[in-house]
Amino acid sequence: MAKPLNIGMVGYGFMGRTHSNAYNRVTNFFDTEYRPVLKAVCGRDAGQLQDFADRWGYESTETDWRKLVERKDIDAIDICTPNNLHYEIAIAAAAHGKMILCEKPLAMNAEEGERMCQAVEKAGVMNTVWYNYRRVPAITFAKQLIDSGNLGRIFHYRANFLQDWTISADLPQGGTALWRLDAAAAGSGVTGDLLAHCIDTAIWLNGSVQNVTAMTETFIKERKHTLTGKIEKVGIDDACAFLCRFENGSLGLFESTRYARGHKALYTLEINGEHASIKWDLHDLHRLQWFDHRDEGNLRGWRSIHVTDGDHPYMNKWWVPGLQIGYEHTFVHHVADFLTGVAQGTPVSPTFRQALETQKICDAVLKSAKLGSWTQVG
Ligand SMILES: NC(=O)c1ccc[n+]([C@@H]2O[C@H](COP(=O)([O-])OP(=O)(O)OC[C@H]3O[C@@H](n4cnc5c(N)ncnc54)[C@H](O)[C@@H]3O)[C@@H](O)[C@H]2O)c1
Repeated sequence: MAKPLNIGMVGYGFMGRTHSNAYNRVTNFFDTEYRPVLKAVCGRDAGQLQDFADRWGYESTETDWRKLVERKDIDAIDICTPNNLHYEIAIAAAAHGKMILCEKPLAMNAEEGERMCQAVEKAGVMNTVWYNYRRVPAITFAKQLIDSGNLGRIFHYRANFLQDWTISADLPQGGTALWRLDAAAAGSGVTGDLLAHCIDTAIWLNGSVQNVTAMTETFIKERKHTLTGKIEKVGIDDACAFLCRFENGSLGLFESTRYARGHKALYTLEINGEHASIKWDLHDLHRLQWFDHRDEGNLRGWRSIHVTDGDHPYMNKWWVPGLQIGYEHTFVHHVADFLTGVAQGTPVSPTFRQALETQKICDAVLKSAKLGSWTQVG
């Protein structure tokens, strides 16, 4: 029987659901030395919280996260709150010797992130940030292809993350539902929310970024604030585009917006090497597009690899070859890897320290957009 790992989760919204689903399902599919136990969930509305706890099988509830992090029967704190709370909760959790699984972006800025890294390192506790796209089997497979040198020298990396849900000027900002539009809760707009995902995948696949040049735009300058009822200035970036140079000499091109009518969550990436190229699209997440110049000339073309075979990453844990899995499984994979890390005492990527690199790039992007000049990362 696997040993219990007691989870205390803060926040029970979108990510609270994906994580709870992952904790509940992981041991049905993965053989792990530890099994997550849903000890407690924390939120501010006691009624809604109890409904959530009943639906997902949490043993208890807390309405103050400070009480949760102090509890002796909790091993790991899972932070699923808006970005402005990651720092405070993580610092307190580390001080109480808890393992921490923190949602992305790590923090509001790199300064906060650095202090969070120091806190978990000083406490010697396991820590990870939920950059879940690393664990889409097709992306993990892309990492294997790149690391084995299949692409040769890398020339280009490009990524987009496009949405269209904030185009209406009538949409308010702030509060429980719309904290993403409020700079005080989110830190930034699409940069920390969407580009952070693109950047994390990019540095994982293609290495560190040296410098960036960016532009941002806030198309709707003022919105009513849900909490104050007043019309207030909008402090987030609605759209962001940046160029960068990677340490390996390749060039990067990134774009994100919430104003691309027709796109709900179009995350695409492409990497072009000397011998081969790879493309991936979140809307078709189990496929990897692969072009290999070494193929016989008259047969050369883009291959669409259905990443569902038993020898593809994670896939031998699921159904039979040819049957695909989806978005929610990336979180199951992350939990499985975390449990393995706990058992072996090995770090689980991305650690806080690794996620800090993304935070530094986000900071450099926002700084560059403000200054209108190339900006060094770090
Ligand atoms: N990995 C991903 O793909 C992904 C996707 C979406 C969001 N996120 C990240 O996850 C985090 C949460 O986003 P979400 O979409 O789940 O948001 P959400 O609004 O759906 O949920 C946030 C939860 O935090 C709770 N909360 C807010 N203040 C609190 C407080 N003081 N004490 C306790 N609980 C509090 C809210 O009640 C709510 O349950 C954010 O950091 C976001 O960037 C990551």
